[in-house]
Amino acid sequence: MTVTTAIIPVAGLGTRVLPASKSIPKEMLPVVDKPAIQYVVEEAVAAGITQIVLVTRSGKEAIENHFDRNFELEHILASKKKTALLDSIRNVVPEHVSITSVRQNSPAGLGHAVHCAASITGDRPFAVLLPDVLVQNQGGQNDLRQMIALYEKQQYAQIMVEAVPQDRVGSYGIVDCRGEIPASGQSVPLMAMVEKPAPDEAPSNLAITGRYILPGRVMTLLEDIQPGAGGEIQLTDAIQALTLESTVEAYQMQGASHDCGNKAGYLLANVSYGLVHPETAAELRDFLSSYGIDHHARSD
Ligand code: G1P
Repeated sequence: MTVTTAIIPVAGLGTRVLPASKSIPKEMLPVVDKPAIQYVVEEAVAAGITQIVLVTRSGKEAIENHFDRNFELEHILASKKKTALLDSIRNVVPEHVSITSVRQNSPAGLGHAVHCAASITGDRPFAVLLPDVLVQNQGGQNDLRQMIALYEKQQYAQIMVEAVPQDRVGSYGIVDCRGEIPASGQSVPLMAMVEKPAPDEAPSNLAITGRYILPGRVMTLLEDIQPGAGGEIQLTDAIQALTLESTVEAYQMQGASHDCGNKAGYLLANVSYGLVHPETAAELRDFLSSYGIDHHARSD
């Protein structure tokens, strides 16, 4: 089965980026000139996704509005012949891509949020993209597309991972590949996964980076998952249950990840994307050089 649907949970409160996210969704905070959520949607579309399901809640309507038309603004920009700006707001997603939303009625965790989209995905496989994490591709590679291709070969779930410093393992889902480390852009079977382990109990330092390709079966498994780490229904626990009945693989990302869910990660994402944006790259480069910072811009 091909993977054409992506679930993007956007119901989080954004407490790690307060006060900026007090009255606007954290997903709408700009990275250079676009809200962070737009990068995530563009990543999914570039990987071949045609149906996007936002799992949202009250107070976050700005996200849905961003992907909808704004006729008044379009009319004004058209009458002023501001064609480039008009294109930038009219074609946020191509016409063949649909954006749907469902509500998460209680903040019961990532697993609960993903399950809110179950009636839309049915038994079809789906992608999950966590909007806090931006994945910046290297040299035209698209990790999500590669994960979908690997899934479609054998229908093995694909979980994107990258190594994190040992003292950070307690902040992530951590996978156990029995010491094997997948090569960049490749996957290896994983034995188990655990959500936010104590550092001395972590099976490795390979952390889940917020991109998943999962079979429809995960929705059924989620129905029986009890609250785990942080008292929340964890997606990691449902995928752990999946490992007991079928192969699940850890995929080593090729691109760079930026965690915009915390202040430093958000700032670094702006610098990284600013260094490849035609309107900002030169000035930003000069600014960094004036601090004696040698940099290496990543390709987009
Ligand atoms: C979630 C997942 C975790 C993953 C992380 C990536 O945690 O539960 O497994 O490693 O995203 O950012 P959260 O950051 O929402 O607590």
